[in-house]
Amino acid sequence: MRAVPDVDREKRAAAEAAAELVPDGARVGLGTGSTVAYLLPALAARSLLLRCVATSVETERRARELGLPVEPFTALDRLDVAIDGADQVTPDGWLVKGGGGAHVREKVVAAAAERFVVIVSSDKLCDALAPPVPLEILAFGATSTFRRLPDARVRAGAPPSPDGGVIADWYGGLDDPRAVSAALSAPPGVIDHGLFPPEMVSDVLVGRADQVEHRRLRD
Ligand code: A5P
Repeated sequence: MRAVPDVDREKRAAAEAAAELVPDGARVGLGTGSTVAYLLPALAARSLLLRCVATSVETERRARELGLPVEPFTALDRLDVAIDGADQVTPDGWLVKGGGGAHVREKVVAAAAERFVVIVSSDKLCDALAPPVPLEILAFGATSTFRRLPDARVRAGAPPSPDGGVIADWYGGLDDPRAVSAALSAPPGVIDHGLFPPEMVSDVLVGRADQVEHRRLRD
């Protein structure tokens, strides 16, 4: 019988390894979720001179509590590194993100970063992506947008995003993530979806018990 991974220990190990990758003086994008919750204290403990932006209200609040300087993502036009969790990671580096509904801000921050470091426990690794894919839909005209996305459903109980978007999930087939990515981006009113392509990802740090496997996708 295969051992069940200690997911929290693995998240923590990956997050702490990622904190060590951040250089002094860096402009840092802080992701969202339970893995990033381990990153924030590890980063704060290094007492570096940083400029941070946060992908959610919760991350911003926690980062500030720990003394990390967070600024609105309006003054900075690029970041040195962004660090975030993921819901699924394939061997070639495709991600599904947005389990916490923060995928739009997370994608904006990842795209702005020179280096995007993904931190996951080993249970997030998969051979192929599986639905659902998170969506954020503009509230204006949402009923009409959903009519064009028959496989999408509003996420029950999810509050609107901090930008007022409706959080939803798409349940169609995911055999060709690049084609699905393009199809989900096409209808006006889709703000963005939670598929992140491999070219966006520079490193994946996978916690495996107390060890961390470092996968480099690009320099
Ligand atoms: C937030 O919307 C998500 O993209 C998270 O980054 C993702 O769901 C991973 O979350 P955990 O670190 O909590 O597993």
